[in-house]
Amino acid sequence: MIGRLNHVAIAVKDLAAATAIYRDTLGAKVSAPLPQPEHGVTVVFVELPNTKVELLEPLGEASTIAGFLEKNSSGGIHHVCYEVEDIIAARDKLKAEGARVLGSGEPKIGAHGKPVLFLHPKDFCGTLVELEQV
Ligand code: CO
Repeated sequence: MIGRLNHVAIAVKDLAAATAIYRDTLGAKVSAPLPQPEHGVTVVFVELPNTKVELLEPLGEASTIAGFLEKNSSGGIHHVCYEVEDIIAARDKLKAEGARVLGSGEPKIGAHGKPVLFLHPKDFCGTLVELEQV
């Protein structure tokens, strides 16, 4: 069901410092910061030949990654995003198999303007999973 790895998201406390690591130390192409108030994060996209890394910095009081950064003070992998062709079909199959879909269970428009859903980490090897319809 899942297709390509769309991105790995890494939560960071200091987006400028993280950008410098990826751009200057690791030599990757890094986008300008993009605030996403509806998701409580500011994002930069690191373009790699085969996938992307997204660096997420908390934005606002109610940021969904604030708690994660309290537990992981140096930052860390926050989620992985897999592509699916039909997000509703994928959701319904996963729910039928007992997986928990976070939030309302209805897809939201994600960082790339496409519908996304998040799956409970406890059902997926301790890793928050994002599905993105492509
Ligand atoms: Co993501």
